[in-house]
Parts: sequence; structure tokens; C-alpha cells
Amino acid sequence: MERFSQAAERCADLIKKSDELLVVSHIDADGLTSAGIICTALQRLGKGYDTRFVKKLDAEALKQIAAIAGKRTVIFTDLGSGAIDQINELGLTAVIADHHQPKPSDYPYHLNPHLVGLNGATDISGSGVTFLLALKLGPNEDLSSLAIVGAVGDLQDMRTNALVGVNRQILTLGVSGGYLSFEKDIKLFGRQTRPVYKLLQYCSDPYMPGLSGCEEACVTFLENAGIPVKAESWRRWIDLSRDEKTRVISSLFQHCMACGMPSHKIQRLVGEVYTLCKEEPGTEMRDASEFSTLLNATARYEYAETGLAICTGDRGEAFHYARDLLEQHRRNLVNGLNYVSDHGVTRLNNVQYFDARSEIRETIVGIIAGMSSSLDCVSRGMPIVGLATSTEGIKVSARGNHDLIMRGLNLARAISEAAAAVGGAGGGHDIAAGATIPAGKEVEFMALLDQKIGEQIKSKL
Ligand code: C5P
Ligand code: C5P
Ligand code: C5P
Ligand code: ZN
Repeated sequence: MERFSQAAERCADLIKKSDELLVVSHIDADGLTSAGIICTALQRLGKGYDTRFVKKLDAEALKQIAAIAGKRTVIFTDLGSGAIDQINELGLTAVIADHHQPKPSDYPYHLNPHLVGLNGATDISGSGVTFLLALKLGPNEDLSSLAIVGAVGDLQDMRTNALVGVNRQILTLGVSGGYLSFEKDIKLFGRQTRPVYKLLQYCSDPYMPGLSGCEEACVTFLENAGIPVKAESWRRWIDLSRDEKTRVISSLFQHCMACGMPSHKIQRLVGEVYTLCKEEPGTEMRDASEFSTLLNATARYEYAETGLAICTGDRGEAFHYARDLLEQHRRNLVNGLNYVSDHGVTRLNNVQYFDARSEIRETIVGIIAGMSSSLDCVSRGMPIVGLATSTEGIKVSARGNHDLIMRGLNLARAISEAAAAVGGAGGGHDIAAGATIPAGKEVEFMALLDQKIGEQIKSKL
């Protein structure tokens, strides 16, 4: 961390010396919270800045950024580590705060956990890296809450069911400042904002037979557990007493056990949850997971500026608009999962995939690939890949799990090699990676990816 801290000082000095800046970030929850952190820190320093959000940092995007940057210092957050050579070739003055697997480089204004032996999929997210940079710019401890939203948005707590590594240190800092709290609780989506029966009804991970997707059954289930589902209005999880919460959780455990669900799946029903103490109870922003999904509902649909406004404190117009987007986003996720379960997956030797073409939007095919691991047609014994049509070719999104990583899987490496071999480009993390490849190369690409994943797993045997 000493080396990281020195690099962060260098980056902060460069930023302090720059009057005008351009912030470039990624169109997801981690990218938006990263931008929210750095923009707030810049505002506090009285700096002028513009923002741009990109799907990926390819040659075309970089050319456009160089054209608008002029002499300004560019701060890349949640992306940039894969493009250092091109950033240098374009002669940009740039700070990079990223957590994706980088190419080796000695660029002096580059912050990335992998350069100091940490894992960017579990130890710290893009927003965490940006937060550590912001701490060098001023007293910005309150922004720890956005850093935790970014980490949860990137599912960094998934492998261990809790935040670990630098994320844990950031959490501790946020807790001692009174900005954050954490506890063990039910992990179903919507604790702050949705009626309890909907938490059960929309739960797809784990898929609970007889409850998931069945509204009436969920209401009856709660009533049988002695939980009134309605008072003056529908009761939310936060409206239940501690005793009622315990009763729901133990009834769910019993239900899942009676269905023969394996215990590792049942255990995923509970885990650590993170609360933003300064936010209004009952709003999406109060809960790190709901906040991150609200942000994805903006950025993944070309409304990144709306999400950024929420991150920098807008609780009016931007927030109300984002809520509408969220309804549509949730419907799209449900439809996407239904598409996968209706069409099934194609299994190769070491990897399985579905080709959604234009049935699933390319910006959310990764979220759906991740969520699809709970479907019956998807095996947890091999990574899952989703393909979708994009304007630049075919978007590829791959997701693995902890067991596969222990067996040698590194999706970022496999995907970037296989994509390069068919004239595409990709990257990411060991557990989740993506690429864009030319249309028509899907079958060749999947065969190569299959072979590379096979080699990774075999070499660890
Ligand atoms: O760009 P980037 O770092 O944001 O995205 C990380 C991606 O990895 C997220 O889409 C997240 O859903 C995925 N992920 C996952 N499972 C994990 C950790 C991360 O699917 N255990
Ligand atoms: O969208 P995001 O990556 O933040 O979602 C985190 C998790 O929350 C998903 O993996 C999924 O299990 C759950 N979720 C859900 N329904 C939604 C959105 C998210 O069940 N509409
Ligand atoms: O797009 P998707 O959600 O599948 O991305 C998974 C991970 O791979 C993310 O961390 C993303 O930033 C990364 N990725 C990448 N290069 C691409 C596509 C995705 O590094 N061309
Ligand atoms: Zn990220």
C-alpha cells in the first residue's frame, strides 16, 4: 500500500496543478460512483471539469476524448488501465484510477490494485481506487459511502458474502465517520423500497421453487409465517420487527431445504448488507445494493448524467427520473432471464453460452449472464457466456464463480486472448470479463475460448 499511496500523491499533485479537467468514466454503477467521488472532490477544490461516459475505451472513444480534451488533464476512472500505450501515443496528460487487469507499464500517474499485488475483483473497485485518490485531494471521508456502493455494484462481496481487503478498510473508515453501517441480513433485493412479498417473488438467486415468480404463493407464505403483509400500505422489509425478520428467514430456510436446495445456495439468502446512514430510510440510496441497481438503470441506458447527478447529491428531478428508468431496467432483467431459460444454453467442453442477438441489450447482457447462474439450465460447473448484437459487432460477456477461480480460471486472460485471435478486443477480471468481436466470428471465438479455459483449468490439476 505504500507504493500505491505514493502514486496517489503524485496523481493528486498533478490534479491540484491542473485548472481545467475532464473526467472520463464507465457506464455502470462503479463507473458512476467513481465519477461522483472525483467530481465532488474537484468541486470542493473549486476546479472546473467536464464529464464523459463511455461503454469501453477503444481507439475510437480515445480519439474523441483526445479531440475534446485539448490541454486539459484527463482523469480516467474505472477504466484506462488497458489503454495506457494509446493514451501516451495521443499525448494526453492523464491520471488513471482503475481496477481492471492492466498491461504491465511504468506510467507514473496510474493507480491500479493489480500493480501492488491486490485483486481488482475482490479487494477494491474503481470507486475504491478513486476514493483513495480523493483522500489525497482533501477531507473527503464522506465519499466512502459511494466507494462502497461501487464495490457492491461490481459484486465484490459475492465470493465471500462480505466485503474484504481494502474495501473492508474503506467500510471501517465510513462506519467510524457515521456514514455507513453494516449487518447480517436477508440478501434479497429491495429491502428498503419494495413490499416484502415482492422480495420473495422477484428472487432469482437462489431460485426458490414455488415462490420465485409466484405472487400469490409469496403472500400466502408470509401469512403462514405469521407476517401481516399489509398495514396501512404494503409492508417493506424495513417495516418488519426483528422477530418478524427472523421468522421469515427461518421459514425460507425450511422451505428451501424441503425443496432439496443445496446448502451453498440456501446460505446465499443471508449475508452482509450495507446501509448509507445519511440517506433517507425507504429510498434506494439508503441501501448499497439498491443504490447500485438504480445507477445501472441510468448508465446502461445512456442516462449516465442522471446517475451522476444522484451521486453528487440530486434528490429531486434526477432521482425521480432514475426511478422510472429502474422499473424498465427490472423488467428488462426479468425478460432477459426468461429468454435464457426459454432458449437454453449451448454447452461446449469447458464453457456454456447463449446467443441473445438483439433480444437482450448489449449493455445488460453481462448482468443477465451473471444472474442466469441460478437458472436450472445453467451449470455452475463451467463459466457462462452471453452474446448480444452491438453496433460495433458482437458483445461478449462472461461470468465465472469462486470454485472455478480456485480451479485456475482467469476469464480476463482467456477472453482477451480469444478475442484478439479473431480480430476483437476484451478484458476485465478473473471472475467477470467482456469483449467485442467481429460479427460472424462467434463460433470460432467460442471454440477458442473453450480451449483456453480448458487449458487454464487443466494446468491447475
Ligand atoms: O467493469 P467492471 O469492473 O465494472 O465490472 C465488474 C463486473 O463483474 C460487474 O458486472 C459484476 O457484476 C461482475 N462480477 C460478477 N461476479 C463477481 C464479481 C463481479 O459477476 N463475483
Ligand atoms: O444490477 P446489480 O448488479 O446491482 O444487481 C445486483 C444483484 O441484485 C443481482 O445479481 C440480482 O441478484 C439482484 N437484482 C434483482 N433484481 C433486479 C436487480 C438486481 O434480483 N431487478
Ligand atoms: O461488459 P461486462 O459486464 O461483461 O464486463 C465484465 C467486465 O469486463 C467488466 O469489468 C468490464 O469492464 C470488462 N470488459 C473489458 N473490455 C471489454 C468488455 C468488458 O475490460 N471489451
Ligand atoms: Zn468497476
